[in-house]
Amino acid sequence: FRGVIAVDGPSGSGKSSVCRAVARRLGLRYLDTGAMYRAVTWAAIDRGLDLDDQPAVAALSRGLTLGISTDPAAPGIAVDGVDVDGPIRTPKISESVSAIATNLDVRADLIARQRAIIADDGGIVAEGRDITTVVAPDADVRLLLTADENARIARRARELHGTADQEALKATHAQIATRDARDSTVVDFLVAADGVVTLDTSALTFEQVVSTVLQIVDE
Ligand code: ADP
Ligand code: CDP
Repeated sequence: FRGVIAVDGPSGSGKSSVCRAVARRLGLRYLDTGAMYRAVTWAAIDRGLDLDDQPAVAALSRGLTLGISTDPAAPGIAVDGVDVDGPIRTPKISESVSAIATNLDVRADLIARQRAIIADDGGIVAEGRDITTVVAPDADVRLLLTADENARIARRARELHGTADQEALKATHAQIATRDARDSTVVDFLVAADGVVTLDTSALTFEQVVSTVLQIVDE
């Protein structure tokens, strides 16, 4: 298989981990489009911009050099040559990223860059919120990964706090629910578009999800 696999879904549905594994097994490239929105958010904060100043943030975005690794064994992103892979995963960025993702001029800039990366030689697994619908609606395989909110919150709590106890669940719930609600005002990633296969991962292990995706690609 050397085509394009497009995957969307809400936070904690398993997009990044599953898509990386699928790309590695199939020898494809991997694109984390969320990292691009996070990188612009990091740069806007770093430059001291008002995140709600949409024209200023869009102008910044258009001027940034984003260096993105599409190697699923070593994903990473740099902004104007500065490695930001760690800094873009902090709670501060997760809290602020929706303000940038709802900026339609930033979206236009990043969507164009994503299409160019996808169009490069070799197949790719690209994941985000609008890949199956806007960025690559002609992809060979289009998937929506879902999981009920409790499952997604428990996964993120374990990832961020190393436990899914009451306190960790409470803190994570606030973050995930707020971000999903804001994000879904611009992109509908909760309902599958026509021709998109929905895979509910709530009751599946990570390995089960990966092998189901590989089966779907094989069909
Ligand atoms: P997303 O990119 O959609 O936000 P991630 O791939 O980052 O989701 O997954 C969130 C967390 O859940 C990660 O720690 C990941 O290892 C874990 N995870 C992914 N899929 C499953 C699954 N099916 N069951 C349990 N945990 C999972
Ligand atoms: O990993 P997680 O699902 O928590 O988030 P992410 O994939 O890193 O995406 C971070 C943020 O970028 C999301 O909350 C959206 O606001 C935005 N995003 C988007 O708008 N469109 C995409 N294709 C990907 C991400």
